[in-house]
Amino acid sequence: MAMNGQKNLTQLLALCRTYDSLHSDYVSRGVNNIRDPNDKENTNTEAWHSAHYMGVGYDAIRLILSSLITSLRQPPKNILDFPCGSGRVTRHLRAFFPAATIGACDLYEGHIDFCVKNFDAIPMLSKENLDELDTGRKWDLIFCGSLLTHLPSGLFVTALKFIARSLSDGGIALISLEGRHAEFIQKNKWKLIPDDLYEVAEATIEAQGYGYVDYQHSMKSLFFKQDSYGVMFARPRWTLQIVEQMYDVRVLGYIERAWDDHQDVLVIGRPGVDS
Ligand SMILES: C[S@@+](CC[C@H](N)C(=O)[O-])C[C@H]1O[C@@H](n2cnc3c(N)ncnc32)[C@H](O)[C@@H]1O
Repeated sequence: MAMNGQKNLTQLLALCRTYDSLHSDYVSRGVNNIRDPNDKENTNTEAWHSAHYMGVGYDAIRLILSSLITSLRQPPKNILDFPCGSGRVTRHLRAFFPAATIGACDLYEGHIDFCVKNFDAIPMLSKENLDELDTGRKWDLIFCGSLLTHLPSGLFVTALKFIARSLSDGGIALISLEGRHAEFIQKNKWKLIPDDLYEVAEATIEAQGYGYVDYQHSMKSLFFKQDSYGVMFARPRWTLQIVEQMYDVRVLGYIERAWDDHQDVLVIGRPGVDS
């Protein structure tokens, strides 16, 4: 035990140096700031949007590095950005991990094409039912930003299972969620969704640990490939009791109000809890 503890501490400090060196290169290389004119969700209509958009990507890298370092993982060789959208995070992954193979996975070809063309990613077309999706390879890192935040409970569970079975033997995944602080934001700061829709989701949060509501028609028409798309509020206990059934992965962390001072981040990884 003592020997392992000492070895792990040495490894942790060596990893800090490795990632520090990658960070210096990332800063001097810079991040590609090209924007997709067809990005459905990041419309850049106000002056602060552009800086915030880049800041969210930097914050994703912060969370990724802290998870890789604390779980003693070497820099990933294969990274899946799931979903990639128009590359808000993909561009940072490319700049930070120039040697990695990066998969850009989304349900909409336009998003994928943009990431393939601009961030040297390989295309991965997704499916709404993630039980049917196989990316054909395993990933050392999966970043799942703002997907489970939009899925009803059944699809939420299939997404978690897809992520778990797509990890390599030493792979880790970061999954963002609308947790307790999202409820606070909705009630006290700004509106994720109109209050009448929020009431539908809120009705089950306390008792069941989650609440979901579909978007209204205007938003749904943008997401024409999906039968269900809305906002999912998930308390930590509800998400963790799902992961607790999954013995192929272990829980490496659950950080509330983590990404962009807003979404929670669940970190899971292989090997499984008893392997
Ligand atoms: C809020 S965006 C997040 C995109 C990106 N991660 C980011 O942070 O900008 C949600 C994305 O999920 C995609 N999406 C929805 N359902 C999906 C599915 N079943 N598989 C893959 N992507 C999906 C949408 O097309 C959209 O690009």
